[in-house]
Amino acid sequence: MSGRGPDPKSTNSYRFESTRLLIDLPKPEDARFLFEMMSGDDREAICGTLIWDGPADLTEMEEWVDRCRSSSFADFGFHWVIRDRLGEISGDAGRPLGNIGTRPREAPGRADVGYWLGRSYWGQGVMSEALGALLDYGFDTLDYTKIEADVFTHNTRGRRLVERVGMRQEGTIRSAHLKYGEWVDAALYGVLSDDRLATN
Ligand SMILES: CC(C)(COP(=O)(O)OP(=O)(O)OC[C@H]1O[C@@H](n2cnc3c(N)ncnc32)[C@H](O)[C@@H]1OP(=O)(O)O)[C@@H](O)C(=O)NCCC(=O)NCCS
Repeated sequence: MSGRGPDPKSTNSYRFESTRLLIDLPKPEDARFLFEMMSGDDREAICGTLIWDGPADLTEMEEWVDRCRSSSFADFGFHWVIRDRLGEISGDAGRPLGNIGTRPREAPGRADVGYWLGRSYWGQGVMSEALGALLDYGFDTLDYTKIEADVFTHNTRGRRLVERVGMRQEGTIRSAHLKYGEWVDAALYGVLSDDRLATN
């Protein structure tokens, strides 16, 4: 493997599994579940620590699903739905629980991850399992050299998560993102394919 990541022109045809989860391409009918999880009282809990402010309406969520299905890696990255594989988490096998994705950085083989989970599924280790599975898949199958995460410094839950899966903080970017009209600092985390070889 060259460590150069997916073919920039390719579209996402990948899916992978972990103990409790199936991680695959969003389907048009998933848009409603994803939109509902990001709406109402839970919206701020989820979107407040994302760079994205969340979908304005169901149409925007449907357009996002459409882009996931049709865009090239270079244009949009690869994004998946995290599903409850056996129904052990939500009571409904195959139900969408949230999203995880990876976008190319400027250098080939270097990508960053983004993710969110429906509020009622927090605190059960779901995203640790999903992110751990994506790191394995990213290095073993998508041929990345480095995977990074850019986490708002005040997002303590998000920082615990990346540290739990073995990402190391490499620095802090001051005024990294404009969120709700205010500049927010971000902690930059990373893990190299070589780091994992060294620990496995
Ligand atoms: C950040 C976010 C994805 C974390 O989701 P999560 O599934 O709760 O995260 P984890 O997998 O790390 O869950 C860990 C918690 O589950 C508990 N847990 C229970 N069973 C577990 C298991 N089998 N394995 C691991 N942890 C388990 C852990 O003790 C831990 O609790 P703690 O946070 O109180 O220490 C979620 O809070 C979220 O969507 N936030 C909003 C969006 C966001 O900030 N995204 C990240 C942007 S960089």
